[in-house]
Amino acid sequence: MTGSSSAPCEALPVWYGKRARDLPWRRTRDPYAVWVSEIMLQQTQVSTVIPHYIRWLETFPDLHALSRAPEDAVLKAWQGLGYYRRARWLHMAARRIMEQHHGMFPTSLDEIQALPGIGRSTAGAIASICFEIPAPVLDGNVRRVLHRWTGKDAMADRELWRLAQAYIDNSDDPGTWNQAMMELGATVCTPKAPKCDACPVHGHCASAGRRDLSEKERGRRKRTRPIDLHWRVHLHLDPNRGLWLVKRPDQGIWSGLWSPPITEMEPTARAQPDHVHLLTHRRLHLYASLEADPPEQQVEGAWVHTTVRHALPTGIVQLLRRRRLLDADGQRIHATGASS
Ligand code: ADE
Repeated sequence: MTGSSSAPCEALPVWYGKRARDLPWRRTRDPYAVWVSEIMLQQTQVSTVIPHYIRWLETFPDLHALSRAPEDAVLKAWQGLGYYRRARWLHMAARRIMEQHHGMFPTSLDEIQALPGIGRSTAGAIASICFEIPAPVLDGNVRRVLHRWTGKDAMADRELWRLAQAYIDNSDDPGTWNQAMMELGATVCTPKAPKCDACPVHGHCASAGRRDLSEKERGRRKRTRPIDLHWRVHLHLDPNRGLWLVKRPDQGIWSGLWSPPITEMEPTARAQPDHVHLLTHRRLHLYASLEADPPEQQVEGAWVHTTVRHALPTGIVQLLRRRRLLDADGQRIHATGASS
């Protein structure tokens, strides 16, 4: 690192004031709204999050509305964002805040971090943006920025947190500082081809202008092969009743979501999947199977003509679209139009 930890504390917020993207969650300090945005942004890109965030706040405008909603409605509102555990955490935390905090979003860092689904970094984002608490964010973007500023390839978590804390202690607006760090990492100090010429703090950076940055970081990433799973998706269709959906078990892939019944199958060289869906550690090969027999009815299930009230995994939505069983807006089921 060149210079002291106070050097970028003026330049970066000034840059942020001029250049930051106008994102909907940056127009509010309502902790509920900021919390929702931070949870959505944990594993999902900004461009995907924006429409979901807007719709979510229309559906559940505050903690009361979210805490009163049935779980299926919460999962439905999350459809398309993936990692549904995050929706369950929001729901669980909203109920806890109603019970344990009299419906008021907690205002201390420890209480915020004690809520389900909120780690140290997310707690720092909410606490700093909404309550001006000097608690750092240390997400992937901020880590990369700090690594580059220091020029150190390897830094233990403890060291990174200490450094992040030192910067925020020097800043007079912790919420803006954290947002500016995230913005810098997302738009300028990017993993590949960082735009050092456009960086407001390149004079503070030990790595500015180094061409080898992208390569090095790519090499450092561990690549693990996804596990292949082959799933037969049993399509029971009835012109009068629609499509048969069952609720997925509470544990495992797509837990709690609705889907046609699924069974595992042995892959054969002849069978071509109708759709291949990638999860973080799994590659799902989905094979549609049109069933003539009625479904087993022991499990929780429903015949549906529309998916409006049921949260379906994206992989299943794509499979149904491929088979022309869902209309373009992904809601109405064509139980008569099945093609084999
Ligand atoms: N990623 C995580 N939090 C964010 C925020 N507040 N703005 C943009 N990207 C983010």
